[in-house]
Amino acid sequence: MIISAFGAMAQNRVIGKDNDLVWDLPADLQRFKRMTSGHPVIMGRRTYESMGKPLPNRDNLVVTRQKGYSVRGCFVFPTVEAALEWCRKGEAEGRQGFEEVFVIGGGEIWKASWSLLDRLYLTIIHRDFEGDAFFPEFDWKEWRESFREDHSDPMPYTYYTLERISRG
Ligand SMILES: NC(=O)c1ccc[n+]([C@@H]2O[C@H](COP(=O)([O-])OP(=O)(O)OC[C@H]3O[C@@H](n4cnc5c(N)ncnc54)[C@H](OP(=O)(O)O)[C@@H]3O)[C@@H](O)[C@H]2O)c1
Repeated sequence: MIISAFGAMAQNRVIGKDNDLVWDLPADLQRFKRMTSGHPVIMGRRTYESMGKPLPNRDNLVVTRQKGYSVRGCFVFPTVEAALEWCRKGEAEGRQGFEEVFVIGGGEIWKASWSLLDRLYLTIIHRDFEGDAFFPEFDWKEWRESFREDHSDPMPYTYYTLERISRG
């Protein structure tokens, strides 16, 4: 099972503000939808609440330390590891799409899962934004770029796919 992160950050690492996104990049959201559909998605409780409803056509796994937290249409786990264990079981049962699972944020959950990630689908927006949630600092030398695509409309941004080559 490949454990991938999927996310977008500004060049100053901002990913969000006031529990919401801070830029409007419809092409990036379309790509997110296309690439994660059919796969389990793992997210922090704050990211779930910022969306307000489960993402369609995906098993939605929400991670929270709150006991008794429950949301209709989502599976709730106390740790990222427990969520991944559930996915591994699904893969062992031959469930479709479970050969790759996506950790879709936000910052706290990427940080908590960092050492477990095999792949990053990272969009970098080449300008600064104001915000209060951040993508984790990481060492690019531990990753190999397998895909890169530059865009300029409506602002300069780049899609990267990075494959883990070492774990520090
Ligand atoms: N740009 C992007 O690609 C992108 C993607 C996703 C989200 N976002 C943005 O990011 C922001 C949200 O990110 P965030 O970092 O504030 O929050 P988050 O990672 O979405 O969720 C944090 C919550 O997850 C739970 N949690 C965190 N670490 C945990 C651990 N080790 N074990 C168990 N539970 C844990 C806690 O829930 P409890 O408090 O319930 O215990 C914590 O409050 C929003 O602004 C959102 O719009 C951006």
